[in-house]
Amino acid sequence: MPTVHFTDADGTVRDIDGNVGDSVMETAVRNGVPGIVAECGGSLSCATCHVFLREDCAEHLPPMSDMEDEMLYGTAVDRQDNSRLSCQLKLADDEVFVTTPGTQV
Ligand code: FES
Repeated sequence: MPTVHFTDADGTVRDIDGNVGDSVMETAVRNGVPGIVAECGGSLSCATCHVFLREDCAEHLPPMSDMEDEMLYGTAVDRQDNSRLSCQLKLADDEVFVTTPGTQV
């Protein structure tokens, strides 16, 4: 079972067990993790599920699509090199570490 470690902008860490095939966004919303809004429900049209992904986790997750890359220019907090949209991060059977930005809107 994959575990997602969410760190918020204040440094609070929440460790949440997820399911293989679910997204990091779905795991957050289902468990009431603050810091991810996910207005569009995962249809890649809102950019309110922005997270900063710990770089060594990327190899276990789907690569960024051109559409996700485009959407990341619309985030409330400026994108960084490790920015991803968490609705696109489908869990494999590995731990994932993400930090949520200070705001999504
Ligand atoms: Fe809207 Fe991810 S939930 S882009």
